[in-house]
Amino acid sequence: MKVLVIGSGAREHALAWKLAQDEGVDVVVAPGNAGMGAVAERRPLPKATPEAIVALATEVGAGFVVVGPEAPLVDGAIDALAAAGIEAFGPARFQAQLEGSKIFSKEFMARHGVPTAGFRVFDDADEAEAYVRAAGRPLVVKADGLAAGKGVTVAKDADEAADAVDRIMRQREFGGAGARVLIEECLVGEEVSFHVVSDGERYVPMAPAQDHKRAYDGDQGPNTGGMGAYSPPPVFTDEVRQKTLARVVEPTLAGMRAEGHPFRGALFVGLMIVDGEPLVLEYNTRFGDPECESMMMRWQGSILPLLQGSARGDVSAVEPVWEAPTSLCVVLASGGYPGAYETGKVIEGLEAAAAVEGVEVFHAGTAERDGQVVTHGGRVLTVTAVGDTLEQAAERAYRAADAITFDGKMLRRDIGWRARSASPSRSS
Ligand code: AMP
Ligand code: GLY
Repeated sequence: MKVLVIGSGAREHALAWKLAQDEGVDVVVAPGNAGMGAVAERRPLPKATPEAIVALATEVGAGFVVVGPEAPLVDGAIDALAAAGIEAFGPARFQAQLEGSKIFSKEFMARHGVPTAGFRVFDDADEAEAYVRAAGRPLVVKADGLAAGKGVTVAKDADEAADAVDRIMRQREFGGAGARVLIEECLVGEEVSFHVVSDGERYVPMAPAQDHKRAYDGDQGPNTGGMGAYSPPPVFTDEVRQKTLARVVEPTLAGMRAEGHPFRGALFVGLMIVDGEPLVLEYNTRFGDPECESMMMRWQGSILPLLQGSARGDVSAVEPVWEAPTSLCVVLASGGYPGAYETGKVIEGLEAAAAVEGVEVFHAGTAERDGQVVTHGGRVLTVTAVGDTLEQAAERAYRAADAITFDGKMLRRDIGWRARSASPSRSS
């Protein structure tokens, strides 16, 4: 069977790598990147519109389609594939609003009693600015729509919050995503990325992971799409996990069903654990990147039954086994990311990195030029390692990351620092 994977990031590389291990599965990726050619056939996809995805799936004879990134989901790729009779993994357009509109998702949480930070919505920049100036406490300012993880400002004071309102609403730094703004209370705690894959009714819990959103060591600098992750994070104890399932996951899935829109696909809850209590920072309706790379490296066996079970409405036969006890991944980015950066830098050392035991190098922003692999995006590679312990996974991942060179290479040196400085804990 042909499985078509839509996307070009390290998340999609990890999914394609995992799917390609199945006997009888031929993976086609569109548009993919320079690394994915090793596990899949690449097809161009200049614009990932629902129509273009359906046309390509039809042309390659795909028996199943996996849509990796959020934008085509929000645009209705799954609805279009369903209308064409093509089975696909991911939520329909309506359900994808849980990610596509932060305001939709906050109002949904409020309706269903899902714990989250207090919030206000504004469609007028002057009113939003007056609110943050009068507040006198740290606030978080968010563009309503999709902004590749960069539309959020955790503001330490009123000036910073007012500046974020100005950039989002008046200067329209994120285009139409900034027509409305969400202003939230600032939560202080430790973040966890927790995913479940649902068939609309039942769900399969995935291994928890922790991302590192800030660009620089010590959680400094601007927010990015994610600079590294590891799994499992010790803060996600059995007790926190039970609370998350009972107070967040189940009410969310039940709420979507009750409103007539059962959720199929990957539901990613971004949590802040505040004194042992899970509060939702955001929903995403696809696998996290780089969390997915960490999870795929730990998952034992085929993931096709999980993805197809979700699409078909029955995941009850899927029992996840987390073969590797831990995993850790380090993102290599282009100098300047998440701001402006140069591309086209020759990447060396990929083979030496891949030769490190327990390591896979997943490509993100890479391209081929004259037989060489060159940088082609902000996040360039996700170097991912498994290990018996997080220390071992970290040592392997950094040994491999250090073997890779390109002009301007940027990485965080402290991925997993919270867990590596804490005592080991339970796993899942
Ligand atoms: P989001 O895209 O909504 O998850 O926000 C991106 C990042 O901003 C999160 O991963 C957090 O690090 C931070 N953040 C978002 N909302 C809050 C909040 N209410 N309090 C503190 N930090 C937040
Ligand atoms: N790593 C966070 C995300 O994928 O949204």
